[in-house]
Amino acid sequence: MTPSGLSRRALLTAAAALAARCAREPPPPPGTRVPLATLPLGERVVVDHQGEPVELLRTAAGVRARSLWCTHTGCRVVWEEQNSHYRCLCHEAHFDDAGRVLSGPPPRPLREVRTLPLGDEILLLAEPDATPPPPPG
Ligand code: FES
Repeated sequence: MTPSGLSRRALLTAAAALAARCAREPPPPPGTRVPLATLPLGERVVVDHQGEPVELLRTAAGVRARSLWCTHTGCRVVWEEQNSHYRCLCHEAHFDDAGRVLSGPPPRPLREVRTLPLGDEILLLAEPDATPPPPPG
């Protein structure tokens, strides 16, 4: 018997069960964890994701994550509620509420950031291609 009253066999069995459980649950992939409690329904929240401004919008369907880096030369876009679109002030570009280019020089829509639900958190997945475009020149 051990000082706690458990037999050596019981301790070894518990340790083996714990080890097996740890082996089955791989750690989550790298990224930025955001508590769902900080994301009110229907409210746009901006977080820093590895140096990138990412807008999170929680709806009944889930959480959508979108980079706020303009796809032209990397300025930060802003959401204009009164016009229901994103605007980039650097070269006067506009994106609709789905991130698609409406006008201006950007070659691509705003980048969607992949997410993974983790219980009461959402994980923004790290992506190797998320480096910003060069700064405006
Ligand atoms: S950086 Fe946004 S339009 Fe040029």
